[in-house]
Amino acid sequence: MSATDSTEPNRRDFLYVATGMAGVVGAAGVAWPFIDQMRPDASTRAQASVQVDVSGVEPGMSLTVKWRGKPVFIRNRTEAEIEAARQVPLDELKDPIARNANLAGDAPATDIARSAGEGLENWLIMVGVCTHLGCVPLGQAGDFGGWFCPCHGSHYDTAGRIRKGPAPENLPVPTLEFISDTMIEIG
Ligand code: FES
Repeated sequence: MSATDSTEPNRRDFLYVATGMAGVVGAAGVAWPFIDQMRPDASTRAQASVQVDVSGVEPGMSLTVKWRGKPVFIRNRTEAEIEAARQVPLDELKDPIARNANLAGDAPATDIARSAGEGLENWLIMVGVCTHLGCVPLGQAGDFGGWFCPCHGSHYDTAGRIRKGPAPENLPVPTLEFISDTMIEIG
């Protein structure tokens, strides 16, 4: 007897982690790791920022956390993903702007400008809301091996840049800072 669909190993689970709660949403694809070490900032900015421990997120793994009510994708990119994004000429980009809240508003959408920065190029952290009409894209999917929004067919590359479909802009990179080698503060 063949395996049933429900036991397919490549089912993709999207895991949303929020202050004081954890939820599992979605289906289809590779299981995403769940790192239950996120905690809210204890300061008065508790609602505005979150700290995420990414020590367990190996290259090729992703984590989705919830920040200000939205999913934030945290991906530890593989060398191949970084290289693929670096190879893309900027004039091929539909949205040539980095959309990175940590950079100037007109910074170009190079791979490094999309990533967490110099020496942290493997980390891609962005709000997981499609810039078309707000669906949550699927990871490691689509024509460019990045993210794919099935709602109306928007394809993002391995730097989260829109490459095909109706979405007008790259997935936005939120304000973030590595406060230690393994801890990211978002917001
Ligand atoms: S909401 Fe993503 S393509 Fe329309």
